[in-house]
Amino acid sequence: MKILVIGSGGREHAVIRKLSENKTIEKIYAAPGNGGISALAECVSIKATDIPAMVEFAVEKGIDLTVVTPDDPLVLGMADAMEAAGIRAFGPRKNAAIIEGSKAFAKDLMKKYGIPTARYETFDDCEKAVDYVRRQDCYPTVVKADGLALGKGVIIAEDFDAAEKAIRSMMEEGVFGKSGSRVVIEEFLTGKEVSVLAFTDSHTVKPMVSSMDHKRALDGDRGLNTGGMGTIAPSPYYTPELAQRCMEEIFLPTVEAMNREGRPFKGCLYFGLILTEEGPKVIEYNCRFGDPETQVVLPLLETDLLTVMEAVCGEKLAELEIRWKKGAAACVVMASGGYPQKYTTGFPISGLDEKGDAPGVMVYHAGTKKEGGRYLTAGGRVLGVTAVEPTLKEAVESAYLGVRTISFQSAHYRTDIGQK
Ligand code: AMP
Ligand code: GLY
Repeated sequence: MKILVIGSGGREHAVIRKLSENKTIEKIYAAPGNGGISALAECVSIKATDIPAMVEFAVEKGIDLTVVTPDDPLVLGMADAMEAAGIRAFGPRKNAAIIEGSKAFAKDLMKKYGIPTARYETFDDCEKAVDYVRRQDCYPTVVKADGLALGKGVIIAEDFDAAEKAIRSMMEEGVFGKSGSRVVIEEFLTGKEVSVLAFTDSHTVKPMVSSMDHKRALDGDRGLNTGGMGTIAPSPYYTPELAQRCMEEIFLPTVEAMNREGRPFKGCLYFGLILTEEGPKVIEYNCRFGDPETQVVLPLLETDLLTVMEAVCGEKLAELEIRWKKGAAACVVMASGGYPQKYTTGFPISGLDEKGDAPGVMVYHAGTKKEGGRYLTAGGRVLGVTAVEPTLKEAVESAYLGVRTISFQSAHYRTDIGQK
């Protein structure tokens, strides 16, 4: 069994670490991978979005299963291309990945099938969008670029001026390129946010343990939005009653809706939810594992990950019992000072052993490289430090104990992960 995992972040490191527990796997390749991943997999320098080069490599190496982890290769059709070359792929085809690739598609799907979400309008014309926010006198309001925008395409506008600025920057100035030529303007929802990742083979949905991201750069949810500064799992707010309700009102209806549209979804479907007073509502779908949610969810998975992935690919998920460990996990992200704006890389990281790990925690590398036997910083988010313990409080404490043993110049991390 030879596996190719596409991507280079902490999420990919978590997927690879979990897969590598399965001793029947002969070899794991990561493309492009990173410094920490290189301790478990052979890293190959192919860009995650380079479909022809990736397929050529997979064919040449006789890959049995490709795990397509990031959003952009999925939206571009990496899974389709692998299948066309006779290689199994874990991850949705292009026509299903659109559930993340176009927010307008996702919103229309939810409206058509009665899946609870924020009220919205879609615009292709900048002046019409500006007119709409001028007329609606209800703030904050949410302005979203339709397409992929590296997690930065959502602006919460506190007043008309901010909303107009967001719309013009996306539609006139093209800050997100083609992704912003269409915008969705959406009602602002309040409530606790919960992420639920689910395995689905398009017939059966098996949710993973819930999790909660911390998206802002600074303590107290202040500062800019980032790719995620830390996570905990499970979310204490996501009760068994809510889980049941989400299954009936959101998860199964979404998978069924995709089937009805002729876009069966197979892979990991990510539900970004807000628990409002009226009940749970969808704020976003992702067509993949979340980052850094995966860094707290997969350490709690007891069942072999390869077995689950094969059940998804073979549409046999109904027959598989997926078991989860008791206890809780917390992940604290250590970032380069200045992230998510300007930052400097190339600093040596101290406190890591030869395999890039530290005692008592699992260190998931996001932006690192290995040079001359040392780990160096190589990105905005550098490491995700995860601990698993019987309770959430202990998991948070252990994760921070781990963080304090690791250092690099200008390291920044939040000190309040899991506090709310
Ligand atoms: P997204 O890129 O869709 O995950 O959105 C980024 C963040 O914006 C989410 O995690 C929420 O915190 C926030 N957000 C998105 N849509 C809404 C909404 N309709 N109401 C309130 N917050 C939202
Ligand atoms: N943590 C949010 C995401 O993966 O999109």
